[in-house]
Amino acid sequence: MNWSRKHLLDIESLKAEEILTILDTARAFKAVGERTIKKVPALSGRTVVNLFVEPSTRTRISFELAAMRLNADVINFTAESSSLRKGETLRDTGKTLEALSADIIVIRHSAEGAPHLLSRVVDCSVINAGDGAHEHPTQALLDTFTIVEKKGEIRGLNVTILGDILYSRVARSNIWALTKLGAKVTLCGPPTLVPRIFEQMGCKVTHNIDEALANADVVDLLRIQHERQRLSAFPSIGEYRSLFGLTTERFNRLKKDAIVMHPGPINRGVEIDSEIADHPRSTILDQVTNGLAIRMAVMFLVTGGSTLPKPTN
Ligand code: CP
Repeated sequence: MNWSRKHLLDIESLKAEEILTILDTARAFKAVGERTIKKVPALSGRTVVNLFVEPSTRTRISFELAAMRLNADVINFTAESSSLRKGETLRDTGKTLEALSADIIVIRHSAEGAPHLLSRVVDCSVINAGDGAHEHPTQALLDTFTIVEKKGEIRGLNVTILGDILYSRVARSNIWALTKLGAKVTLCGPPTLVPRIFEQMGCKVTHNIDEALANADVVDLLRIQHERQRLSAFPSIGEYRSLFGLTTERFNRLKKDAIVMHPGPINRGVEIDSEIADHPRSTILDQVTNGLAIRMAVMFLVTGGSTLPKPTN
């Protein structure tokens, strides 16, 4: 299908066909990344600004490298080094970046809806790189891309998302993406972090980890989002691990072809045992690699790209 969106703000508003268009485009960009010459001139002369008002390793570096692979000019800035610290509003920051010819603003912000607000006040494209506990659309896209690579297709798969669902933007975006593509999604974790209201998103909710893992084809682990929790949601890290961590013993009881995913950053010995993080059936680093192709695809599509340009020197 043809892509007509100028922004990527969330997965909730995307149709399944639009998600598949991004995945198909990313597949072409992944093939480009496997050639000797990894750059294409798709964004030559365009400017990408990475506006990260919250910490990030994977997403920020991945967007930066993706923009460079597309031959764009790239500017990175963080809240600490900007006039946001002097009280400048997000709107005025956005207008300033636009006056400097930004074509795409990639924004990560602690406030839910910040990318949506920005998209209403600037004329350039806006890509959500994570807004509070709301959504992290490119993470869900790279996760679904990785599942398709490992499992062939999404439809009919049993996907268990285990951990802190309540405060997780990754969980929300993945629930939207996976259910739109036909997966059966089960959510599991402590009742304080996995309320039954998530059933309204088309998921099964259970607080019994054995039940959640028994038939899983994919186990997607989430870390505890301490930075967003207002109160401690469980008594201790040790208790969390013993009740809801993917220990080696629990991993050994999974289906023999089940894969283990995690968006990172991981907390070894808490939500995942160290040897499982490094296990051949862990896709953690494949997800990072696939994020590059997904972000190239998204930047290409929101700026009106349709035919993949030839590689450049
Ligand atoms: N998965 C993810 O968003 O990681 P970063 O916070 O390091 O970008």
